[in-house]
Amino acid sequence: MAHDRPLARLRTSTVILAQLVSLAAAKQASDAVTVSFCGAGGWRGWTGLEVRWKAVPRSDYYEVQLLTNATGNVFAIVSTGATHAVVQDAIPGTTYWVRLRAHEASAPGLGPGTWGSPGPVAECQLPRSMETPQRVQDVPSLGRKKPPHTFWLEVMRESEYTSDVDYLTNHDSGDVVGDVAMVTASVSSGRRPPDFFGNFTKSTYTLYCVEVLKVSVPDTITTGGDDRFADYLSCNLNEDHRAPECACDVWIDRVIANQDPNPYCHVPTGGPCDMQSWLKRNCTCTCTEHSLRMSAKYTGKTPVGVPVQLGNWYSHPKAGECRETEEVGVIRRDGSQCTWKTRPDARVVHGLDLLHAGFNTSSTGFIDPPHVDPSQVYQNVNVFRRVVASGSLRPWQCGGEHFEQAIIV
Ligand SMILES: *[C@@H]1O[C@H](CO)[C@@H](O)[C@H](O)[C@H]1NC(C)=O
Ligand SMILES: *[C@@H]1O[C@H](CO)[C@@H](O)[C@H](O)[C@H]1NC(C)=O
Ligand SMILES: *[C@@H]1O[C@H](CO)[C@@H](O)[C@H](O)[C@H]1NC(C)=O
Ligand SMILES: *[C@@H]1O[C@H](CO)[C@@H](O)[C@H](O)[C@H]1NC(C)=O
Repeated sequence: MAHDRPLARLRTSTVILAQLVSLAAAKQASDAVTVSFCGAGGWRGWTGLEVRWKAVPRSDYYEVQLLTNATGNVFAIVSTGATHAVVQDAIPGTTYWVRLRAHEASAPGLGPGTWGSPGPVAECQLPRSMETPQRVQDVPSLGRKKPPHTFWLEVMRESEYTSDVDYLTNHDSGDVVGDVAMVTASVSSGRRPPDFFGNFTKSTYTLYCVEVLKVSVPDTITTGGDDRFADYLSCNLNEDHRAPECACDVWIDRVIANQDPNPYCHVPTGGPCDMQSWLKRNCTCTCTEHSLRMSAKYTGKTPVGVPVQLGNWYSHPKAGECRETEEVGVIRRDGSQCTWKTRPDARVVHGLDLLHAGFNTSSTGFIDPPHVDPSQVYQNVNVFRRVVASGSLRPWQCGGEHFEQAIIV
């Protein structure tokens, strides 16, 4: 009887161990994505770095991450709902380090907290002898005769509340000048910055290429007269950053954009807002129903920069976003139309890389009155472009001539 106890204990711990192992396996299965193939590959004559993986249960979307080395940072991504993708800008004879993360199918959005942890890193060697990869846009018109009904927009997104890549759905972005202006102003301001600027070295910037439906939106206020766009919305001010929402352009965004906020924004008693009332969340801006309806369908725009214009900011409404399989402009069965679509490949830059490359963080003040030195902004735009160009991929391109959608195989 005396040795019953140790035996019982042994059995219990074996059972516990088995449970732990199966728990770990289950966790692994729902979380980590493993690369099953990577190397030279392609589709319909277009070649590049092909990556394949096994579908992960309860996942609906994947992000292929290219790292600077086996333990390095992400410098490019390709995202897709498929279980394979081609990195078209890959260079023959180059070694790539690739890993993936999977998005929870049941999540309310693509925001922080809706992705599993990245899986193991795979080393992928592209042979020197392979055919030079071709981008889809390098291929001359594929018999498309009709004039393009879309245009291309290069935008930059600063991740908020995360150091991972942040997607455009119901988020704001800017062109490179407009966003670098904001980053320069924020990072050089003496004020306590919001959480996501808290530590510039950990900040993350993603450069996207967006295909936008050509439209003509009447009677806009924030667009500076560019009727291809709707009024800009301020996004991600709601509590749940997993599923960001957008609302009528807020006071601070109008002030930074050098637009008169007074006709649209007021304190409860009806008077004009100021920095005090804005900081105390005591300032409300009102958009017309027509404006909000247009902004919920179409990409929004506002020129930004004081005292001189330094680029633009954009809003990307979820209701207007095309699915991966939809062509931009398609009218769906329910009568809604998709009006914009992000190209699956994007480039990623980190605050630390920018600092190493000489990003100028000198203080020039920012808010009250808002201003930033344009020459400092342009200096930093060059730094940003240099860091983007340093990734071992062919030069980043967006726009120019109309080209077919990037390929997901
Ligand atoms: C890997 O890349 C990171 C930054 O991307 C760099 O800091 C680090 O030194 C690199 N490590 C090696 C072993 O090259
Ligand atoms: C910012 O993050 C870096 C890298 O994690 C860390 O070394 C540094 O101490 C942080 N700085 C502050 C002010 O928290
Ligand atoms: C909000 O504004 C009203 C009217 O100007 C003022 O009476 C009230 O004290 C303000 N609330 C806060 C929290 O500042
Ligand atoms: C950074 O920008 C400020 C403001 O434009 C400028 O005075 C300063 O010379 C710049 N610093 C460097 C190192 O270029």
